[in-house]
Amino acid sequence: MILLAIETSCDETSAAVLDGLASIRSNVVLSQDAIHAPYGGVVPELASRRHVSTIGWVVREALDGAGVAPEDVDLFAVTQGPGLVGSLLVGLSFAKALAYFFGRPLLGIDHIEAHIEAALMEGPEVSYPCLALVVSGGHTSIFLMDRELEYRLLGRTRDDAAGEALDKVAKFLDLGYPGGPVIEKLAAGGDPGAFPFGSPQMTDRSLDFSFSGLKTAALRRIREAGLDKTHPRLPDFLAGFEQAVVRAVLDNLERAAGRHPPRSLLLSGGVARNARLRRAFETFARERSLDVFLPSPKLCTDNAAMVGALAWKRCARRGDAGLDLAMNAYPRFVVPTALLRKRKSP
Ligand code: KG4
Ligand code: ZN
Repeated sequence: MILLAIETSCDETSAAVLDGLASIRSNVVLSQDAIHAPYGGVVPELASRRHVSTIGWVVREALDGAGVAPEDVDLFAVTQGPGLVGSLLVGLSFAKALAYFFGRPLLGIDHIEAHIEAALMEGPEVSYPCLALVVSGGHTSIFLMDRELEYRLLGRTRDDAAGEALDKVAKFLDLGYPGGPVIEKLAAGGDPGAFPFGSPQMTDRSLDFSFSGLKTAALRRIREAGLDKTHPRLPDFLAGFEQAVVRAVLDNLERAAGRHPPRSLLLSGGVARNARLRRAFETFARERSLDVFLPSPKLCTDNAAMVGALAWKRCARRGDAGLDLAMNAYPRFVVPTALLRKRKSP
């Protein structure tokens, strides 16, 4: 079965062609980083305009790269939300037009659920229960999966996402956008012990995350120590901050694993590209003899292959397919299990 997937939830225009679950025939990702870099963050209006001008080319590249004609596609899939609505609508409208014209089904896919699938599409069968962490620029959430395609939200960020905190600190220091990879690079030679940060503590028993306190502490220390992008102690500071973000993620994972003992652990989302986080996560799992699901770095950040893999699985396992031309984008996070129920058209 040939599947074409489209992802435009934020600032990457992406299209992928899959032949069944395991075989990615193409996965084209066109980044808009250069457009948003001068602003130190994504400018929604610019993002949607850019998607409009590039989506046709990106889809064509994905089809050509896979050696597939559009009429050979059996199923279309598109990210429906959460994300920037203007951006989502570009991908959604394009996918609807293709599905309508070629008379094929179109599946709307949840972006966070697709990030989770990115960690599963390359690996062996999952041993459940699985604790799944999605750590990205827009989201930081932890789910319990008792079985395939079912997710229970255990905790989510109450303020900034982990990637957002990294991006904001990088912006404050004028280091460039996106901040995560820049910080990782500059922190490489630094000593994290030279700038220790406290760990965010939730006052209740919740498994929610919070990164805004850490971000504010970082901004305060930048001012106090007079740090800027040329300061010799910058690598130490960035290593300390990066370490604090990693620890905040791992501390919550530890609490979640204590309450819901898993057999496997999953980490995904853009921040899962980070080597320090990957190492800490793998060590955590190894010490507890748990299976690990961690996507290869290029599948951590937004891409259409993960959208296609989830669509394929839903279609194969549950027979989900159809063409709902009233399908709309949704901006905010919804618990993915809610998506398992059929959406009603307005
Ligand atoms: O998953 P993603 O592509 O988009 C969202 O759904 O948000 O994640 C983007 C985020 C950005 O905040 C970016 O700074 C962060 O992932 N990121 C990283 C790294 N690469 C991307 N953070 C830390 N280290 C990295 N190597
Ligand atoms: Zn994402």
